[in-house]
Amino acid sequence: MTIALSPSVIAPETGRDGDFAGSIIAGLREPQKRIESKWLYDAHGSHLFDRITELDEYYPTRTETGILRQRAVELRRFIREGTALVELGSGSSTKTRLLLDALPELETYVPVDISESHLRSAADRLSRDYRNLCVHPLVGDFTDEIVLPPQLQEAPKILFFPGSTIGNFTVQGATGLLTSLRGMRNVTAFVIGVDLVKSAKTLIRAYDDAEGVTADFNLNLLTRINRELGAHFELSAFHHEARWNAGRSRIEMHLVSRCAQRAHILGEQFLFSEAETIHTENSHKFTVERFAGLAADTGWHSDPMWTDPDGLFGVAVLTPGTPSQPAD
Ligand code: AVJ
Repeated sequence: MTIALSPSVIAPETGRDGDFAGSIIAGLREPQKRIESKWLYDAHGSHLFDRITELDEYYPTRTETGILRQRAVELRRFIREGTALVELGSGSSTKTRLLLDALPELETYVPVDISESHLRSAADRLSRDYRNLCVHPLVGDFTDEIVLPPQLQEAPKILFFPGSTIGNFTVQGATGLLTSLRGMRNVTAFVIGVDLVKSAKTLIRAYDDAEGVTADFNLNLLTRINRELGAHFELSAFHHEARWNAGRSRIEMHLVSRCAQRAHILGEQFLFSEAETIHTENSHKFTVERFAGLAADTGWHSDPMWTDPDGLFGVAVLTPGTPSQPAD
């Protein structure tokens, strides 16, 4: 089967690259310097992330995979004639196979991703392995409105958002995303991976592994700025740090300047004092109750969350509900 990327929804990758310079400069001008975590995923960064998912210390991927392998068949009750599986930030579509294997009734798969090359190769591999599946990839940022092709707009849909990517959003951003997805037509279920609060020690180990893969993943941002924006960051002058911010219930990644130094990017100078940091990622961790609250506030009903026996990770199955009234 040939895979047509719908031209109407292709976000030109040139446009996204254009965003890069502006986003980096704006973030480094702030009092707490920051870089948006979406820039972690260039080709090398995506490769490093795939290695992270295989580390002993990085429990989320294998734990979520175990939960889905065991429980995916229970999603059968959300399947009607002509149901499409819509995946947000599909990447290499590895977890998708667990759903497709358990639910052969699914007729259509719509992966949504900003990386056109990843999307194309993942879609090709899937349509080779699942001959009866209609694969309809959409290139774009799923935080913008997802425009489905006309023939799928009224189709029943299962939304799939694994990996705890929801944790990368601010509380406001997560609320906005869940609210906007609630507006999609004919959604029968929304399956979303949620990383759970646990000991700071386990969390920090997961984001600062012994082999230093996560450190390379973080430092690769500077390599990317050097390459794409002609800067001259000295990588050895920064080190990776993972911090548990208990007040905000999140792991933060920072790049810490080992000394006072300056950098020049596109003609602008940026000063770093010793121990000053660039904040590069937030990964929010939820309790089962707090996530249920977020779901209820945004118009979703949540079934009891699926978790592993150690309570490390959760997969929530949400169905359209009525927004709860804010308490006064
Ligand atoms: C892909 C966003 C889920 O937050 O755990 C892994 C990214 N960062 N190690 C996460 C990540 C550092 C990951 N997510």
